Amino acid sequence: MGVILKAKDLCKTFSNESVQQHVLKNLNIEIDEGEFAVIMGSSGSGKSTLLYTLSGMERPTLGNIAIRGEEISGYSNDRLAVFRRKNCGFVFQQNYLNDTMTALDNIMVSGLLLSREKKKIAEKTAGLFEKVGLSRDTLHKYPAQLSGGEAQRVAFVRGIINTPSVLFADEPTGALNSKSASQVLDIFTELNTQGQTILMVTHDMKAAIRGSRILYLQDGVILDELRLGAYSPDDDKRPEQLRGFLREMGW
Ligand SMILES: Nc1ncnc2c1ncn2[C@@H]1O[C@H](COP(=O)(O)OP(=O)(O)OP(=O)(O)O)[C@@H](O)[C@H]1O
Ligand SMILES: [Mg+2]
Repeated sequence: MGVILKAKDLCKTFSNESVQQHVLKNLNIEIDEGEFAVIMGSSGSGKSTLLYTLSGMERPTLGNIAIRGEEISGYSNDRLAVFRRKNCGFVFQQNYLNDTMTALDNIMVSGLLLSREKKKIAEKTAGLFEKVGLSRDTLHKYPAQLSGGEAQRVAFVRGIINTPSVLFADEPTGALNSKSASQVLDIFTELNTQGQTILMVTHDMKAAIRGSRILYLQDGVILDELRLGAYSPDDDKRPEQLRGFLREMGW
């Protein structure tokens, strides 16, 4: 299994009229295929900025980003958009579902960006719904008719409908109660077990513990990292390992 995402000397600076804020400062990161990488760090440290920059949603100020060996930094907006559709899936804290469309149509919109085969996308969606524990009638419900956890699972299916090389998630459990959160986390774990590469930002210990590797962002760089290996709920040393690491980081 090789490197699937690599960023070199990544800089991201936000400039207002008077001040420049250097959020990412020559940051380097490498994510291997099949990894479940978690980015932690204090609020405002630049976790979301890093995620959006790595996924090609935002442009770096300086530096290089390669996904599957493709250097995306120099891509035009159009080329980048096409690349992102094929390779990058997203799950956010808010589900960003379109309220005027059914769950199925919300996913269809994403699926149709890559394929014209409506029937195949609908079948794939139904299969994924089953996998994430959503009943068939959910397909035809509108977002307002779904619970928070259901809506997040629909958004999850939308994030993976095009079988992305990397699934990017920003605080995916942030808006959920603990039962819904653990259901959503189980899906992350299951997908990762099946080989899905995941890069997740979270400040939630219950989410972070699922990761195979924890990267701590501070002062614009990855300060340190902890390798936890594959998640197992029976591993009772794991929570203490994570807590110890975060204590060391001053979290
Ligand atoms: N589009 C933007 N324009 C200007 N400044 C920005 C922009 N996006 C983020 N920032 C600034 O960059 C810094 C990092 O923001 P970011 O959202 O990446 O932090 P975070 O680690 O995700 O925080 P949180 O844990 O609260 O979500 C913040 O100080 C923020 O104000
Ligand atoms: Mg954030």
